[in-house]
Amino acid sequence: MEIVIQPTYARLAEVAAEIIRDALLKKPNLVLGLATGSTPIGVYEALVEMHKTDGLDFSGVTTFNLDEYVGIPSDHPYSYHTFMETHLFSLINIPPENRHIPQSTAVGHVGFCERYEAAIVAAGGIDIQVLGIGKDGHIGFNEPSSSLGSRTRIKTLARSTLEANAPHFGGTIDAVPKMAITMGVGTIMEANQCLLLASGESKAAAIANAVEGPITAEVPASVLQMHPQTVVVIDEAAASQLKRIDYYKEVYANKLELLDQEI
Ligand code: F6R
Repeated sequence: MEIVIQPTYARLAEVAAEIIRDALLKKPNLVLGLATGSTPIGVYEALVEMHKTDGLDFSGVTTFNLDEYVGIPSDHPYSYHTFMETHLFSLINIPPENRHIPQSTAVGHVGFCERYEAAIVAAGGIDIQVLGIGKDGHIGFNEPSSSLGSRTRIKTLARSTLEANAPHFGGTIDAVPKMAITMGVGTIMEANQCLLLASGESKAAAIANAVEGPITAEVPASVLQMHPQTVVVIDEAAASQLKRIDYYKEVYANKLELLDQEI
């Protein structure tokens, strides 16, 4: 795992967007796995800016979102379809037929989940999977106790997740959909690279558990320790409970120095 600690959320977002931009410049038909939630918003803003200012071209890109609530229409103001449209898809040039988001209905979900997995394989697999992390260590909507080998399926959301998402649904957890379709932990682990993002003190314990704790289904993000190419981009507040914070900073500073020498 590469741990990249940035002073602020704004820098975290820029660094993550630069990783995606550099990959896109090398591979114009990049396959991106995308997350929703508050954490990646700044990353999407930075990518939109690169598109507008530098002409960063997304016309060859294919995307697969991690998850979607079940039980609200796709055009609901707080569906993840709407989120992606608002924060990214309406602002850059990814062809509509290249964008994939899990469906928001349980009807026929078994076949849907199989087709979703098959579409990822048909696209050549995910090059970079963007991930946020829940306070309980979830990635996607893989709540604690999710199988570390799980595939795309319906999951019931944990109470802490309902509480975290309640502000989007009028402040009451009763209004938050109780289930979601999510890529599985095993699906996520097949991405070439995972880009785990976290900001703020409320994520510090989850990050410490994921990065330095035991690998356990109790903290689904901890399985990323087994992934050969995970980059964890976090701000100081989210890094505040890490034991080896000085070492991670030294490793990253040395990497930047090496890159400078190569130029
Ligand atoms: C969203 C997703 C979730 C979020 C996580 C953190 O697509 O998969 O795992 O990444 O709940 O959410 P925020 O960023 O809102 O704290």
